[in-house]
Amino acid sequence: QTIYRKDYTPPAYWVDTVEMGFDLDPAETRVATRMTMRRNPDSRARNLLLHGEGLQLAQLRVNGKALGPRAYALGQGTLEIFNPPQNVVLEIETVIKPDQNTSLMGLYVSNGNFFTQCEAEGFRKITYFPDRPDVMARYTVMLRADKERYPVLLSNGNLIDQGDLGDGRHYATWEDPFKKPSYLFALVAGNLVCHEETYRLQSGREVLLQVWVEEGNLDKTQHAMESLKNSIRWDEERFGLELDLDRFMIVAVGDFNMGAMENKGLNIFNTKYVLANPRIATDADFANIESVVGHEYFHNWTGNRVTCRDWFQLSLKEGLTVFRDQEFSADMIGTDTGRAVKRIEDVRVLRQAQFPEDAGPMAHPVRPDSYVEINNFYTVTIYEKGSEVVRMYQTLLGKDGFRKGMDLYFQRHDGQAVTCDDFRAAMADANGRDLTQFELWYSQAGTPRVKVETRYDAIGKQYEMTLSQSCPPTPGEESKQPFHIPVAVGLLDAAGRDIPLRLAASGAGPDAPTTLVLELTRDKQTFVFTHVPERPVPSVLRDFSAPVILDIDYADEELAFLMAHDSDAFNRWEAGQRLAMRRMLALTEQVEADPAALQNLDEPMLVDSFRATLNDEALDPAFRELALTLPSETIIAEQMAVVNPQAIHAVRRALRRLLAQQLRLDWRVAYEGNRDAGPYSPDASAAGRRGLKNLALGYLAELDDTESHLLAQSQYDNANNMTDRMAALAALANGGAPGREDALAGFYDEFKDEALVVDKWFTLQAMARNTDVAAVRALMSHPAFTLKNPNRARSLIFSFCNGNPPQFHATDGSGYGFWAESVIALNRINPQVAARLARSLDRWRKFTPPLRAMMQDALRQVARSGPLSKDVHEVITKSLAE
Ligand code: ARG
Ligand code: ZN
Repeated sequence: QTIYRKDYTPPAYWVDTVEMGFDLDPAETRVATRMTMRRNPDSRARNLLLHGEGLQLAQLRVNGKALGPRAYALGQGTLEIFNPPQNVVLEIETVIKPDQNTSLMGLYVSNGNFFTQCEAEGFRKITYFPDRPDVMARYTVMLRADKERYPVLLSNGNLIDQGDLGDGRHYATWEDPFKKPSYLFALVAGNLVCHEETYRLQSGREVLLQVWVEEGNLDKTQHAMESLKNSIRWDEERFGLELDLDRFMIVAVGDFNMGAMENKGLNIFNTKYVLANPRIATDADFANIESVVGHEYFHNWTGNRVTCRDWFQLSLKEGLTVFRDQEFSADMIGTDTGRAVKRIEDVRVLRQAQFPEDAGPMAHPVRPDSYVEINNFYTVTIYEKGSEVVRMYQTLLGKDGFRKGMDLYFQRHDGQAVTCDDFRAAMADANGRDLTQFELWYSQAGTPRVKVETRYDAIGKQYEMTLSQSCPPTPGEESKQPFHIPVAVGLLDAAGRDIPLRLAASGAGPDAPTTLVLELTRDKQTFVFTHVPERPVPSVLRDFSAPVILDIDYADEELAFLMAHDSDAFNRWEAGQRLAMRRMLALTEQVEADPAALQNLDEPMLVDSFRATLNDEALDPAFRELALTLPSETIIAEQMAVVNPQAIHAVRRALRRLLAQQLRLDWRVAYEGNRDAGPYSPDASAAGRRGLKNLALGYLAELDDTESHLLAQSQYDNANNMTDRMAALAALANGGAPGREDALAGFYDEFKDEALVVDKWFTLQAMARNTDVAAVRALMSHPAFTLKNPNRARSLIFSFCNGNPPQFHATDGSGYGFWAESVIALNRINPQVAARLARSLDRWRKFTPPLRAMMQDALRQVARSGPLSKDVHEVITKSLAE
């Protein structure tokens, strides 16, 4: 059934303290909980409602007395206690089975150790509790377990007691000094080792930092520890926010549904976002670890100290915290182009994943109005679009204004569970601004389109820019009101220099800026620039100042000009992408009419501008890598009314081959020029050089000739780090190099004990050009494959369904049949992972009629396959809905 935001009511009872005792045993764990509760004067409800799922209830006492059978009722996932007194001490004992828990929510076992995941609604799988984020309590937790098998016992907050119990068991008692919602509860028990350091805060206080891993992984914790220290320092400097605990722990676990979790003082991470050294991790892994460690750490203030009133407000903490981790990563690079590179990467993710979501059947506002299963709403809209919405405050209010808003937000709401409206009010009040209209970014789904029309008056030296906005309908929202859109604009003269900007409305100041943020609030608005000496080339939506689609008519020459001259690095990149996109869309149309259309391909404009970028030594290598990467097949598909994946793939590939042939020497020079001798470092500048070098390798590999085979083979044989290894292996795997099979087999052999590298090995093959469904099935019967481990399932199945479009969309429908089988199999093991995979077909209506029909069949096959989890059911139902 559907839950609605408008139905929110405060809880009937508050919980002040929670004491828990765990007798940990994989087959049968006993959980004793004592809570002190008091009636909420703001609630009219008389009964006390607790949530519980899959629990065996062993004891239930109110104020010391066992409850008679008529004093309470057990419902579907609930326990209701009728008319309890004003003040309640509730004692509950439950029995749970961690080793049977394959959902990885609540308490579960991974490789023999215990872990928890309680967000969003996992605590109810541990005990009965008002499992909602507005109920915040102080927790004291005692863990008891076999000393030999579980030498390490961790929970939130501070360790206040530990000792032996005799009988081979021991205990540890933890107390969290801060009140928190149940979704931030965590425990870890097992055989783990830690890398620890003390760290001095700016205030002078010393804190203990620990990174816990399985034995044998201590040589992979340094980068996470550095990232943690950098995060702590950054939050002090940028936002004046200090670590509020004496001890901060990160624990790595190999079985985890998501990336990581911000449990108070005890962050639990997917190993993928902790473990790294040059042998096993790529540059991208190092960067991801830094950003996820930052993300979870930043949640300590944006999420934990100030949390969400209900799950509809999820983006309050997630959008804000993604914005914070993006800014952190950008500041860690430090340079202007570095910041732009990070911005481009983030926008790429938005376009690749969020724009499609916003245009599909699962589209929802940043603050949704309803959901069936909250786990389905940990989406790119909540996270990435949510972050763009937060970024727009900073764009509108300035960095200082944004900081003032943050300060007021904490001043008002520290220790509270609040809403997106509260955040917006703090931003508005701290800056004396009316941000009423800005709420529409939270309440309306869909990606707005902004259209730009211009007119130059040569006599009056005026330049008119007319901006108009529209937004397509989304499920349940037929028409939209105009958004409040910050549009950052610059104007270039013929020499490619920025023209100082003066708006007709405002007086001419002496130091006119070269970028202005125009505020588009109506359907259509005209802005007039004065003192414009010549007809300029406009640079619009600089730094991607709003999450919109920009419709602007450029001539090819203007795009090449912007690509060469725009002072805004983001738009410089954007111009190249537009040029490439325009050509690829035209070619796709031609190929669909005539399959031979790619035979005498010639694209001088594109090739020339790519050559100029490639050879421009003044440009940062990391920037050049991004500028020389063609828009992905998914992003191309997004621009088309009807999608033919084979045609798109053929065009993109042909263009890559053309660029490889015509720029062959240039690639070769870039390759040689960006090779670094000496020890590996994951820093942005070294990673950027490797990125450009490996892009060159990838282009050259498109030629699939002896020279490129030798180049890839020699890089593979001589690499001293995983980035170069993987790039070379991918180059070998995508073509007909004679060393292909040996390299793949050798790689597995060398790394078979490193789970994260085995994942890479599956992923690389899943995405290789000649991997069809049959090959994926063969890989599934490899002894290292299992559906039970989410990383492994994602490495092969998700990588194939989402990362290999021409094979997944094979015209015989085999990819869709495989998808259906996989969703059905995963549904029984892990609903959350299954529901993610289910999303792979949600844009089925966009494809050519034959594909569309087969996709619909596959969706229906899942729909009637038997009992489905709420998670999968919601996705499939919404996908098939008219
Ligand atoms: N709050 C976590 C993060 O963004 C994500 C946890 C989501 N877990 C889930 N089961 N839906 O860092
Ligand atoms: Zn988060």
